[in-house]
Amino acid sequence: MSTEITPPQTTGLSRFMDRRSFIRTSAVSGAGLYLATSKSAIAQGEKAGRTIKCALVGCGAQGDRLRVAASKIPSGIEWVAVCDIWKYNRSPVARRMAYENKHQVSGPVAEYETIEEMLDKQPEIEAVFIATPDHLHAPFSRLALSKGKSVYCEKMMSNTIEGARDMVKAGREFNGIFQIGHQRHSNPRYIHLREKIIKKGLLGQVTHCYGQWNRGVSASKPLGIPKNQEIPTEMLAKYGFDNMEQFRNWRWFAKYGGGPISDLGAHQIDMFNWMYETTPVSLFATGGVDYYDGTMGPDGTPKAKFELPDNVMCLYEYKTAQGTMRAYYQVLTTTGSQGYYEKHMGVSGSAIISESPTYNQVYAEPSNDWSEYATGDDPILVKSPDSVKNKFWEHPRNWAKPAPKSYNVTGVAKAVADARESKALDPWEIPVILDVYPHTPHVANFIESVQQKDPKKLTCNVMDSFKSCVTVLKAYECLKNGQKYNFTQADFEV
Ligand SMILES: NC(=O)c1ccc[n+]([C@@H]2O[C@H](COP(=O)([O-])OP(=O)(O)OC[C@H]3O[C@@H](n4cnc5c(N)ncnc54)[C@H](O)[C@@H]3O)[C@@H](O)[C@H]2O)c1
Repeated sequence: MSTEITPPQTTGLSRFMDRRSFIRTSAVSGAGLYLATSKSAIAQGEKAGRTIKCALVGCGAQGDRLRVAASKIPSGIEWVAVCDIWKYNRSPVARRMAYENKHQVSGPVAEYETIEEMLDKQPEIEAVFIATPDHLHAPFSRLALSKGKSVYCEKMMSNTIEGARDMVKAGREFNGIFQIGHQRHSNPRYIHLREKIIKKGLLGQVTHCYGQWNRGVSASKPLGIPKNQEIPTEMLAKYGFDNMEQFRNWRWFAKYGGGPISDLGAHQIDMFNWMYETTPVSLFATGGVDYYDGTMGPDGTPKAKFELPDNVMCLYEYKTAQGTMRAYYQVLTTTGSQGYYEKHMGVSGSAIISESPTYNQVYAEPSNDWSEYATGDDPILVKSPDSVKNKFWEHPRNWAKPAPKSYNVTGVAKAVADARESKALDPWEIPVILDVYPHTPHVANFIESVQQKDPKKLTCNVMDSFKSCVTVLKAYECLKNGQKYNFTQADFEV
């Protein structure tokens, strides 16, 4: 069983990179990176479209990141309002907009405590960015859409499948443009991998995928409450928060979020679906609260107490046009080992990619000569510089390996251990690096779609995001009953 996923619309995204004139500077070539020329969106300027009056709801870490990402878009956005029930987060973002997004502000940015008041008082707002905790995505998207607004809502669409399903319905009921914040869909490097490498068959039949987001314990320290910054209990309750501690640490609670598999896995499991334009047929998952149980940590302070599993491993089975594909995904919040990336493994080659530009390798299997793809002004691949061999996957390190010794019981060195290594694979790189923030092209894609009132321009519509949400959240069925989950057609339908 497979369901269709919308192909990406790449129009307009190319302005955030330059594939024709890569500068390989001596400083970066040692790290195996190619920099796009500094032809940034701002330097280029661009055809001005209609200016969209925008508002931001949720001025926390991600809301501010969207503001910063948007600042690189030269025209088309005018910030007119921000909304957050917490002044402590709201006012600094409004202030920063005035300074750092100068070209996107024409007067004071109005501040509101509630989305309801904001939408009532400023009917001229055309687009709303939602970056609140996940449980508010569905009601806030519906509210904004029902008032005739277009909506950019952060991932995970919702912490429940019902919430995500309602968002799809709201998208159908109202006319606004509705984008979900899976920003990899608009990232030129990801689009290059999908369109020019995977779809063109360079990797051959892709039989396996792998993805991981490993994050060390320092990332989950409990967030405190700054002095005299409590939100009144009635306001917290109005939006479903039990208390200030939960409001601050909403990610730990099922009521507000979907746990690390949703928070981090949302981006990467979505890539399995998107790259192959399909959805999985089955899933097996294991995981649990392995560490964050609220007991005393090794540093003498209490650990966070997660309601949802802090470590999850998922095995998906897909039926692609080429055959069976299995995908393994892990989210570990107790080790930062090897960071976060996705890997696509085919019989002719494999590709490793991440939002972090450090992870950018494509390897040819023996007997695949890819030199023809590295020619011309617009190459599909470029050769990895020989000097860079510190990539831990298929390529050996180039520093001297100490000769392995083993010792017999008398302590006398014996012969060298017999460790056979496969021949290193032929290393290549994707010749595209984003020269703006990871969210910038996605925000730009949304704004262009709003300007042109054309939902087909969106790289990440709600239906595709809904399918990803189902793909991820069904892991909890397996965790509950310890059994494989077989997806049905109905799971992915609304
Ligand atoms: N796309 C990405 O790469 C990415 C990265 C991080 C987070 N996110 C998503 O962004 C969202 C926000 O995450 P975050 O890390 O910024 O969380 P955060 O806790 O830092 O910020 C959430 C903000 O929402 C505000 N808020 C809560 N209830 C509100 C309400 N009723 N009305 C208005 N504002 C309200 C809070 O006061 C806070 O300022 C989440 O959905 C998260 O999954 C996306």
